[in-house]
Amino acid sequence: MSSPFYITTPIYYPNAAPHIGSTYTTTYADTVARYHRALGEETFFLTGTDEHGQKIAETAAKEGVEPKAFVDRISERFRSTWQELGLTPDRFIRTTEAAHKHAVRHFWQLLHDQGQIHFQDYSGRYCVGCERFLTERELVDGKCAQHQVEPVLRTEANYFFNMAPHMPWLIAELESNPDLISPARYRNEVLAMLRSGELEELCISRPRERLEWGIPLPFDDQYVLYVWLDALINYLTGIGYPDDPDWERRWAGVHHLIAKDILKPHAIFWPVMLHAAGIPLYQGLHVHGYWSMDNQKISKSLGNLVDPLIMKQKYGFEAFRYYLLREMSFGLDGEFSEEALVRRINADLANDLGNLANRSLSMLERYFEGVVPESSGASELSQAAESAARQLDQQLRGFNTQRALIALWELIGAVNKYIDTQAPWKLAKAPASRDQLGSVLYECMEALRVIAVLLEPFMPETSARILGRLGDPAPGATLHEKLRWGGLVPGTQTRKGEPLFPRIETS
Ligand code: MSP
Repeated sequence: MSSPFYITTPIYYPNAAPHIGSTYTTTYADTVARYHRALGEETFFLTGTDEHGQKIAETAAKEGVEPKAFVDRISERFRSTWQELGLTPDRFIRTTEAAHKHAVRHFWQLLHDQGQIHFQDYSGRYCVGCERFLTERELVDGKCAQHQVEPVLRTEANYFFNMAPHMPWLIAELESNPDLISPARYRNEVLAMLRSGELEELCISRPRERLEWGIPLPFDDQYVLYVWLDALINYLTGIGYPDDPDWERRWAGVHHLIAKDILKPHAIFWPVMLHAAGIPLYQGLHVHGYWSMDNQKISKSLGNLVDPLIMKQKYGFEAFRYYLLREMSFGLDGEFSEEALVRRINADLANDLGNLANRSLSMLERYFEGVVPESSGASELSQAAESAARQLDQQLRGFNTQRALIALWELIGAVNKYIDTQAPWKLAKAPASRDQLGSVLYECMEALRVIAVLLEPFMPETSARILGRLGDPAPGATLHEKLRWGGLVPGTQTRKGEPLFPRIETS
């Protein structure tokens, strides 16, 4: 039984509307999911909202509404925004769903029955922003490095999950599988955390008298689960755990995509939880950096959020999507600016891609009334196309959208150069060169078709627009079939259409 390709995003806190950060991760997952679908693989893409915990309860209280009414409203904004942006999750999960509560209670009851949970007093420094107790090492000048606030000292009796017995296993997994966490810098960071030996016990509960808004522990209803230990389980609930007999098959192909801010829960708590419950570890944890603006972190508290719907209105989501996927180096932080976005639109989209489509379709219209000519069989560009497809495949399987796009743009550059050196406008002047002109233009159109096919996961609408102008060759075929050189049938009527990406004038 083969397992599907299963990709997840973090489930976002619905305490503010979607912004560039959540849009980036979801678009990135969408791109990878689209690629696997194009390959003809069974694919499952999960995203959703993480709705319990103190932070949500506090934000709802500030707005004077019940937590459930509050999360209903904001969760719906996430769902509808992804829909409006054309993103294609197969399931949008909410942690307030009955199915999720059932899965979570089943999971923790299992660990409790196995004697892996105990009850004791605990004192520690708690950061409400992180929703967890911080260790001394995580403090910078006594403050949470991420939220810039001093954590509060707290003592209370709670339930604990003893992670210590699982640590040697996790270290061995990370050492023997260098690709488990990528890029390598994050794997090294996790190994360093693990080797420091300070992560032994995980507090899994919050007393209900202090926090009502959570999933009650199945073995003590005076306590609710700490939100992270409810949230992580969404990745199992999303595929039908524990009751759907197919969940294990689906689980076998799972890849998680996150940003570096939530590395520890995903790289340490989650593997240990899975191991404790006898569930296999994920296939990969892929970690991207953080977007900042004017060298400041983009965050709800700073209020410098970039609204994806406004970006869509101003530039079109395809262009914004391209910018996000192209601009950020995998694993490193990126700086958002509208000037850089406009530069990319003008250089990569209007100039390189737009011009290629525009001039090759225009020449075909001018010299052959838009009808695809016969080719003499010489395929000078087919090698460049094959090499681009191979590199793109390798990079996307490694979750590197930037390098995949660089490979694709190299092909675009090669075709533009081919046009310049072949100079079809000169060939058109000599009637004796008619066949050669036909072959050159066939090469260009075929290369344009392959480029549009490879572009689909990144810019689905632009891909469809280009393929539409080429008479929609081979709709429904798998990527490998579509990539076969010669797919464009001579005699096909093409359409030039409007410029794909008009230049944006900046004064
Ligand atoms: N609810 C938890 C995740 C639970 S997953 C079991 C959470 N939510 S969050 O709303 O804070 O989302 C964090 C995630 O949003 C990051 O890991 C990243 O995917 C995305 N981003 C939010 N801000 C971001 C940037 N400024 N830059 C890049 N991605 C960021 O943590």
